[in-house]
Amino acid sequence: MKRRLFFKWAGITTLPLTISTRAWSSKYVDSNSTPLQPEGENYPESLYELEQFAKKGMGEDALLYLNGGADDLLTIKANMEAYRKIQIRARRLVDVRTISTQLQLFGKALDNPILLSPVANQRYFHAEGEIATAKAAKKTNHTMIASSLSNFSINEIVKESNADVWFQLYPSPVRDVTKRLIERAESAGCKVLVLTVDSPVVGKREKFSLIDFGILRKANYEGILPEGVGILDAGMTWNIVDWLKKSTKMRIVLKGIVTHEDAHLAYENGADGIIVSNHGGRQLESNRATIDCLSEIIDTVKDKIPVLIDGGIRRGTDIFKALALGAKAVCIGRPFCWGLGAYGQRGVELALGILREELIRDMKLAGTPALNDISLNHITYGPVK
Ligand SMILES: Cc1cc2nc3c(=O)[nH]c(=O)nc-3n(C[C@H](O)[C@H](O)[C@H](O)COP(=O)(O)O)c2cc1C
Repeated sequence: MKRRLFFKWAGITTLPLTISTRAWSSKYVDSNSTPLQPEGENYPESLYELEQFAKKGMGEDALLYLNGGADDLLTIKANMEAYRKIQIRARRLVDVRTISTQLQLFGKALDNPILLSPVANQRYFHAEGEIATAKAAKKTNHTMIASSLSNFSINEIVKESNADVWFQLYPSPVRDVTKRLIERAESAGCKVLVLTVDSPVVGKREKFSLIDFGILRKANYEGILPEGVGILDAGMTWNIVDWLKKSTKMRIVLKGIVTHEDAHLAYENGADGIIVSNHGGRQLESNRATIDCLSEIIDTVKDKIPVLIDGGIRRGTDIFKALALGAKAVCIGRPFCWGLGAYGQRGVELALGILREELIRDMKLAGTPALNDISLNHITYGPVK
């Protein structure tokens, strides 16, 4: 919306931008089916605008839960603001008629370096919850990471969508419960297990709406969680990685690593990948922004295992910067849920499409036709105004 005001002020009509956005919609977002229906004047052009539509769709309480974080919300802000301290060093006179955003991750070809972070309780945002998200992921060829705390079971999510779904695990203090969760994910067809390592307890979240979580299904735990057994394991240590490797054929990715020491231990203990994450600022307050943690982790694991990152990614330029600093791909949490809350499956497609279009445009403007062309030379840290 602000952008429209700017164009008006600058004496430029918004029409060409709107047209190109619509043309892109059918080209990139939904190429194998019906184009997304723009909402006329109200069509969200950025993730920030999509967030405004989410408020109408899911209601203020749900949005408060989704956007909330630990303590004073400093880590949430840090995640986003840190991207603004990085500038792009664009190269000129490069042939950018064709842009490729393809990559290989764990032997699978992805069209896009964007995955969907695990987000619990998606039925709070839309009645079709994780099923709508997974269908959007399938339709646009993205990978979804389904939370242990999803309201549909991992089997239902995969079966209904046929999407490429990774399973995020909160191990229970009772190993047998964890084992059965893993078996459920493996038999649903998941090839990657994402172990969340930043949550021995829940962060202190004061500004959340008081949702009665009892009304939302903990679908994956049905029939396997004995009375009184907790969902989080404060006693978890590094030996769980070895135990997981012996318990499943799925690849093991550790989500929540923020230091080079732990990146080293993750690799030494046999992790197949890392997601640099601080849980979107919902756990420990005063964490560094994830993008500020990335370099030391990349320096430590080099190219030995893929490193992904999430937290605060709202623009194509944020993705560009994360890739320049060595991330293989990024994950987004809240933004796709804004889409889900606003329009269900089509909203998730829209969120992914907005980011993808921005990334392609930014790669053209920066003179980097393929993801591998994006390097440290394409960014710099300058003074923040
Ligand atoms: C409402 C909500 C629920 C979440 N639930 C989980 C979860 O169940 N498991 C997990 O590992 N991370 C969870 N996360 C963290 C996300 O996976 C991700 O790390 C974070 O949202 C990324 O930051 P972003 O929202 O700024 O993109 C959750 C985040 C939100 C906002």
